[in-house]
Amino acid sequence: MLPEIVAHRGASADLAEHTLAAYELALAQGATGLECDVRLSKDGELVCVHDRRVDRTSSGRGAVSTMTLAELDELRWGGEDKPGVLRLESLLDLLPPGVRLWIETKHPVRYGGLVEAKLVALLARHGLAKPPSKDDSSVVVMSFSAHAIRRVQRHAPRLPTVMLSGIRLTPRIGDYAGPSIERLRADPTYVERAGRPVYCWTVDDPADVLLCRRLGVRFIATNKPAATLEVLRGT
Ligand code: G3P
Ligand code: CA
Repeated sequence: MLPEIVAHRGASADLAEHTLAAYELALAQGATGLECDVRLSKDGELVCVHDRRVDRTSSGRGAVSTMTLAELDELRWGGEDKPGVLRLESLLDLLPPGVRLWIETKHPVRYGGLVEAKLVALLARHGLAKPPSKDDSSVVVMSFSAHAIRRVQRHAPRLPTVMLSGIRLTPRIGDYAGPSIERLRADPTYVERAGRPVYCWTVDDPADVLLCRRLGVRFIATNKPAATLEVLRGT
């Protein structure tokens, strides 16, 4: 079985990350998963922004958590002509059948658990918080924080989760293991020892794609869905 392709921040090597256009392109390129980061605006709305500040990816300056949704909406994101920040809800609406959204919650400490509570409430409103089984879930929740994963497990025990990890070891919780590609390069026995499906990020180099395939990684997060699929189809 070929690994599934998760478009990291959309087809973000081709188009600006966390824009609707980048996600639509990822789907057109054949991704069966979409990855996004979520933060809370000052007035408690879930928006898809990776960095703590808006400076790198928008026309504005300042921390996401200090700006209201209306203020974030006044900015242009990724050089788009039209202003408007990407809401998590827009990605849920975009999701075609059979495609999963892999949602990473950022800064659980700053938001004191509110981001996970708001996330589960939003998913519940969309009928996505209680999937028939974890394999059938349209959404997966991910975090580098064990606290955040445990909160999601408490609020929505039927949602699948990923405990993300870089090169350092993390607690063995979550339904999927989420190592970085650097970790797999350093420790090729990781996948067989994981004891659960592995989601590996962020895999753009063809040699790394082949390594993931060889090791039995189940989900590959990549900024380049089209090129990664091409490498996989050639194996
Ligand atoms: O998919 C996990 C990966 O996105 C974690 O790193 O910094 O790109 O959010 P980052
Ligand atoms: Ca992320």
